[in-house]
Amino acid sequence: MYEIIRQLEEQRARARAGGGKKRVDSQHERGKLTARERIDLLLDPESFEEWDMFVEHRSTDFGMEKKSVPGDGVVTGHGTINGRTVFVFSQDFTVFGGSLSETHAEKICKIMDQAMRVGAPVIGINDSGGARIQEGVSSLAGYAEVFQRNVMASGVVPQISMVMGPCAGGAVYSPATTDFIFMVKDTSYMFVTGPDVVRTVTHEEVTQEQLGGANTHTTKSGVADNSFENDVDAIEQVRRFMDFLPSSNREMSPLMPTDDPAGREEPSLDTLIPENPNEPYDAKEIIRKIVDEGDFFELQEGFARNMVVGYGRMEGATVGIVANNPNVLAGCLDIDSSVKAARFIRFCDCFNIPVIMLVDVPGFLPGTSQEYGGLIRHGAKLLYAFAEATVPKVTIITRKAYGGAYIVMGSKHLRGDVNYAWPSAEIAVMGSKGAVEIIFREDIDDEERIQEREREYKEQFANPFRVGSRGYIDDVIMPHNTRFRICRALRMLRGKQQENPWKKHGNIPL
Ligand code: HXC
Repeated sequence: MYEIIRQLEEQRARARAGGGKKRVDSQHERGKLTARERIDLLLDPESFEEWDMFVEHRSTDFGMEKKSVPGDGVVTGHGTINGRTVFVFSQDFTVFGGSLSETHAEKICKIMDQAMRVGAPVIGINDSGGARIQEGVSSLAGYAEVFQRNVMASGVVPQISMVMGPCAGGAVYSPATTDFIFMVKDTSYMFVTGPDVVRTVTHEEVTQEQLGGANTHTTKSGVADNSFENDVDAIEQVRRFMDFLPSSNREMSPLMPTDDPAGREEPSLDTLIPENPNEPYDAKEIIRKIVDEGDFFELQEGFARNMVVGYGRMEGATVGIVANNPNVLAGCLDIDSSVKAARFIRFCDCFNIPVIMLVDVPGFLPGTSQEYGGLIRHGAKLLYAFAEATVPKVTIITRKAYGGAYIVMGSKHLRGDVNYAWPSAEIAVMGSKGAVEIIFREDIDDEERIQEREREYKEQFANPFRVGSRGYIDDVIMPHNTRFRICRALRMLRGKQQENPWKKHGNIPL
């Protein structure tokens, strides 16, 4: 018995040592924490229960039978974040470069299967050289097993990927099929083919950082949702983020205590919209002023900045907020912003999170690059996502809601539950200038007459009353009351039940 316990301790010590002091030091020198240090910071103290610490690879090729480390390059198990269960895997770069072997994959699959059964999120920490080269196709099969589970878990439990080191080749497709990707500045990168292959095939000279660093994926590609300064910052922010999410599609998000009264008025909102309808303002100002304690977790902050998406709370309950941002491209809808908002709304709908739309949109962005890039298909994603969503949907039109963008951005016609307009709302097929130039083309050379027509058009449409008379908005509300009106709407909508017709799945225009 004592001998077994001694051996057990010895095994545990070997597993905890990972790839040994030298490699751990090298990991630290790069500014990275080890797999276990990351888990310790991510989970509540003493809550981590490790699984499969003694698993070792089965490979005998290339002398691998002589090289084995208990745990095989990935630390897996479960624990809690602020008291709620999560499953985690954390790849250990100090053991075979965190590369994925058959057994490494089996460990990940095991916790994913269990997470699905109990209904708890999965957080994957990626820091890996990819497929374990010595294992060949067995490691590819391992990846495929993980991918299949990523897809099956999608919409059932939240899946969060933290990319905290290399993530290259086909390996990127596991994070890509999860719900959120967070990266760390300067130490993480993701690409399908690395700089060497790029140079050979396309003759482009590009560094790892330029090709797939955090900056690239949070500003250019939109692959990552956010990036953070270092490992500690990333982990702290993910802990904060998890408090916004439910554990599974069977649950609601946790209710957080708040001292912020639902009826808090915000007089500054009454003067936020500039007199000149073409002058921009920052939609985030509205968001921060209406959510509980101004606490807003923005996603994809640096990508498609003409659209703001993220989570806040109203009376302690999570809400997803989607807002056009007039500060960037006048808040126009384009390819990237449509896809960004569509994906965000779909996550909310999977996980019972009400959606609030803040609308100030002059239309879709014109131009060949948009049309050639498939604005029709990508814009349709947003329409589709909002129309199929059955969670509570509250829309506030703060200023412009023109044309197709009026419909897409949370209109009543796409089953918006509660639709309000501020007195500054202008809802029409298009802006006055464009409209008058089309319908009064015969007057185009008569400046005075055109101006008169524009005034006429504005009187008719540049207000919320025409739409109100049709019942397409439920009320015109004072901006300072926005928080209260949303809270009251959401309270009313708590019992909402709505089902879409049975289908295997819809065919969103991907
Ligand atoms: C086995 C690996 C490995 C791998 C790294 N190591 N990658 N072992 N399989 N894929 C080992 C190294 O041998 C080394 O072991 C240790 O990890 C650290 O690696 P270094 O090269 O010293 O580290 P660094 O200089 O930081 O470079 C990191 C790296 C590089 C950029 C990730 O290791 C690298 O390019 N690795 C290969 C990447 C790759 O081509 N993977 C296959 C991709 S294809 P020692 O013992 O010296 O510490 C793929 C397909 C997936 O993943 C398909 C899914 C469908």
